[in-house]
Amino acid sequence: MKILVTGGLGFIGSHTVVELQNEGFEVIVVDDLSNTSLNVLDGIQNITGKVPAFEKLDLRDKDKVQDFFKRHHDISGVIHFAASKAVGESVGNPLLYYENNINTLVYLLQELQQKPEASFIFSSSCTVYGQAEKMPITEDASIQTAMSPYGNTKQIGEEIITDTAKVTNINAILLRYFNPIGSHPSAEIGELPIGVPQNLVPFITQTGMGLRNELSVYGDDYPTLDGTCIRDYIHVVDLAKAHVIALQRLLNKKNTAKVETFNLGTGTGSSVLEVIYAFEKVSGKKLPYKIVARREGDVVEAYANTDKANNVLGWKAQSTLEEAMASAWKWEQKIRK
Ligand code: WQD
Repeated sequence: MKILVTGGLGFIGSHTVVELQNEGFEVIVVDDLSNTSLNVLDGIQNITGKVPAFEKLDLRDKDKVQDFFKRHHDISGVIHFAASKAVGESVGNPLLYYENNINTLVYLLQELQQKPEASFIFSSSCTVYGQAEKMPITEDASIQTAMSPYGNTKQIGEEIITDTAKVTNINAILLRYFNPIGSHPSAEIGELPIGVPQNLVPFITQTGMGLRNELSVYGDDYPTLDGTCIRDYIHVVDLAKAHVIALQRLLNKKNTAKVETFNLGTGTGSSVLEVIYAFEKVSGKKLPYKIVARREGDVVEAYANTDKANNVLGWKAQSTLEEAMASAWKWEQKIRK
């Protein structure tokens, strides 16, 4: 079975390629290398002993996407990661996000709808829920008006897939990630640090390495136990394994609807301060931080109800917050050697 992984040299994509190879799938990766590097291929090979086929491809170029599928007509499934994903950047540059996250999805689906059947796994996000009323968040929680163009592209993407699957032979699974963190235990692949990290965990590990003076904690006056926001931090390897299980569900025709949706989280919420303490525990370092003003657009809390993923998809996150933080720290130390 040949599986296309778009954005397969990215953070979650590369970890998913490893798990696909571990399950014996033949993988072809396309990536435009805008937010990663070819060295990730070496990291994957160092883990699995196999180099996935790779083509540099900008999915915004419709002709090139058509040409790719002409040359690779034996693709059974697609896991689609390729997208821009910086919430803040999307506010200042919405058209970059609508072109890169929406046009590319349309061009991919236009190719897949020509096949006798196609399995499509979509990288979505808990951001579609906005500030959900009830915790933990279930898949039928209402979709709120997007807080950013990035979040909107995930909502629109889900709608495009749903409308298309209804009238084509495409079967799809939408995976709504909570907060992916950590790195492969081998420290051969991880979250590549390009620019100043917007996300909490890479900023913590870079501060731990002395690359940043101190962490700014965006507000401690929220209505939570310690006043800081709560999120569901899930180890990226657990997340990657869920993609393989979801793909196998479709390939084995176990899906009970043309489009299924699953929340991918641990089911446990952790505050910013708890993440800091977890880092201090696994690294043995005191993390310098200061409390600053709230960040625009942050929700107070978001953590997953994992019943559907556990009982229907048959997947459950295995790693604890501390294990995930330890892997993130190991990766940070490795790349700074
Ligand atoms: C987590 C918590 C911050 C940085 C976003 C996207 C989501 C997904 C993951 C793409 C929040 C606090 C952060 C810092 C801080 N991205 N924080 N100081 O915002 O939950 O989710 O990234 O798929 O779609 O929305 O993640 O890591 O940015 O923030 O205090 O320097 O850490 O306020 O409470 P977020 P995050």
